[in-house]
Amino acid sequence: MEQGEGAAALKEGAAGLLAGEGRILAEREESPIERKCAPLSDQSLTLLLDALCFQQATALLLALELKSEETSAHSLRVASLSLRIGRKLALSPEQLATLKYGALLHDIGKLSVPESILEKTERLSEEEWMRLRLHPSRGENLLATLDFPQPICQAVGQHHESFNGSGYPFGIRGLAISFEARIIAVADTFDTIFKGRCFRKAECYEVALHEVVSCSGSQFDPVVVNALVGIPKEEIEAL
Ligand SMILES: [Fe+2]
Repeated sequence: MEQGEGAAALKEGAAGLLAGEGRILAEREESPIERKCAPLSDQSLTLLLDALCFQQATALLLALELKSEETSAHSLRVASLSLRIGRKLALSPEQLATLKYGALLHDIGKLSVPESILEKTERLSEEEWMRLRLHPSRGENLLATLDFPQPICQAVGQHHESFNGSGYPFGIRGLAISFEARIIAVADTFDTIFKGRCFRKAECYEVALHEVVSCSGSQFDPVVVNALVGIPKEEIEAL
């Protein structure tokens, strides 16, 4: 695929997710003052988050696509699966909006990681691994600098934390990890196994699901894993 075609496809894919449920920018611009000043219902909170994040998220995803097409495509799939899990768990519209942007941008900190590391197929050296492990914090800091809402920044910064406290960067555990980050962690790992990355081959649905389920309660929140298990195989394969 040509670079231009890749960017166009990414923009289209991101726009589909970012617009969400048929919502379009024009609708968000109808009454901004009313939305900001009136007591916010769940629905208007979602619209406000979209208004705050849409354009910057699209620009960041396009930049990520220029850096690593594989990472941007992975990000779009992780967002689709995260939202599917989030709906299964009956998240509020505000949580779903946080989840959407957190998942889309979960690896945005990889903008700071050299392509030689991102695309390396062999085992990373200790120094390369240390550098890669900085990406959640780098992403969180980048989004905070751009004034993304704090829950979105937090979800990005915590997406490699583990339910049992063995993750990074802080080693926080259980419910101390944001719900959105716990969902992104499951979707991220499932997609990495199911679709494959430069550093590992793709596996079938059953193998990918088995690997995630085997880490339920250790790396992953069992509630989130159960939600993934409850999504029909055909729906996941169609994402
Ligand atoms: Fe990541």
